[in-house]
Amino acid sequence: MEIPFNYGRIVTGENYTDRVEDVKHLNSNFKALTNTTIISPRRWGKSSMVNKAIETLKETSDEYIFVFLDVFNLKTQEAFLEGYAKSVARAFDNHSELKQFISEVLPSNIRTEILLGNKNIFPVELRISLEHGNSKEYCPNILDMPQELAERKGKKVIVCIDEFQVITEYEDSLAFQRMLRAAWQRHTKVAYCLFGSKFNMMTELVGKPRMPLYKFGDMFYLKKISTGNWVEFITERFRSTGKSISQDTAEYLANLVENHSYYVQQLAQLTWFRTDDICTKEIVDAAFSGLVDQLSMIFIQTVESLTSTQSEFLRALCNGVTRFSSTELVNNYRVGTAANVKNIRKTLEKKEITTSFPNQTEIQDPLFKYWLKNHYFI
Ligand SMILES: Nc1ncnc2c1ncn2[C@@H]1O[C@H](COP(=O)(O)OP(=O)(O)OP(=O)(O)O)[C@@H](O)[C@H]1O
Ligand SMILES: [Mg+2]
Repeated sequence: MEIPFNYGRIVTGENYTDRVEDVKHLNSNFKALTNTTIISPRRWGKSSMVNKAIETLKETSDEYIFVFLDVFNLKTQEAFLEGYAKSVARAFDNHSELKQFISEVLPSNIRTEILLGNKNIFPVELRISLEHGNSKEYCPNILDMPQELAERKGKKVIVCIDEFQVITEYEDSLAFQRMLRAAWQRHTKVAYCLFGSKFNMMTELVGKPRMPLYKFGDMFYLKKISTGNWVEFITERFRSTGKSISQDTAEYLANLVENHSYYVQQLAQLTWFRTDDICTKEIVDAAFSGLVDQLSMIFIQTVESLTSTQSEFLRALCNGVTRFSSTELVNNYRVGTAANVKNIRKTLEKKEITTSFPNQTEIQDPLFKYWLKNHYFI
């Protein structure tokens, strides 16, 4: 029997639910070639939503070529540019066509090689290695590749860049951002869709007037999938396998993990495994504590890696403190001075323990928060 819940990868088809408005919105941006920035915390469903928008557009039009790049592991400008070039090259499925394209758009002193790839995924692959340090020289040619691709193929190109905030950590990042802007703003047949999970870093990149990519395009925050949608999804997925769960119990399940996309699917799967015919709240509870137990080793490691002031800050968050400049925080928790608090917030966000939203900071992982409250700060 097929397992009806999935987590840890992009979900599609019947494993995907909701975000109808977001998908429409992104599709309209793609069609208008409007650049877009999408921001949402880890594991809420950015990649799945962008993928859905791409699939939807592909169904109705063959005018578009999609280029997809995840920069999470690309830690230098050179690595970014290599990844960028390789992703554009994947739009070709023919060795000689790609060879010709590369010879026309890239200077000959850039070392490239064209390899046969996996027939079913990418038939040809570009190998490219850039020397460290002289990126100014070759950067514009590489950055213009999507526009060149669009012109040669007579199509529009949508470049999606995941975990875009990583570029803020590059050496001389501002100069690199200026180069991106200079190239991208000249591209008339390409739209860029940049997405990332660190609110502060993403808003710093595109939301500050002094930054090169300021007002780069439409910016939106992905919200959580609503309880109503999860209830419909969970009950339907149970039903499709001959098991059943009431709306009330499905709602209880989604709420236990605060509607966090990844955890709703994970908890639903664990619950489904434990259910013979009819799911009850007791089964959900048992699955939930099993999940918390399973994660507790990682949570212990996380708290062991914290300084005492960082840990105090998390305790304040668990107790519902929201105003970080308040004397309440400084007086009641051993977090040090107000300046200290600022640093703590930055570090915890960088470590992906907390997430900032326009008006608040939250512990990113709802199960970590639950564990802190019920097993750690007691
Ligand atoms: N629209 C959706 N419908 C059903 N489940 C979803 C949806 N979006 C996300 N999920 C669940 O959440 C998980 C994480 O989704 P996804 O990888 O798209 O999120 P992300 O925000 O890109 O994560 P990351 O921060 O790790 O890149 C999926 O594997 C799936 O279990
Ligand atoms: Mg993702």
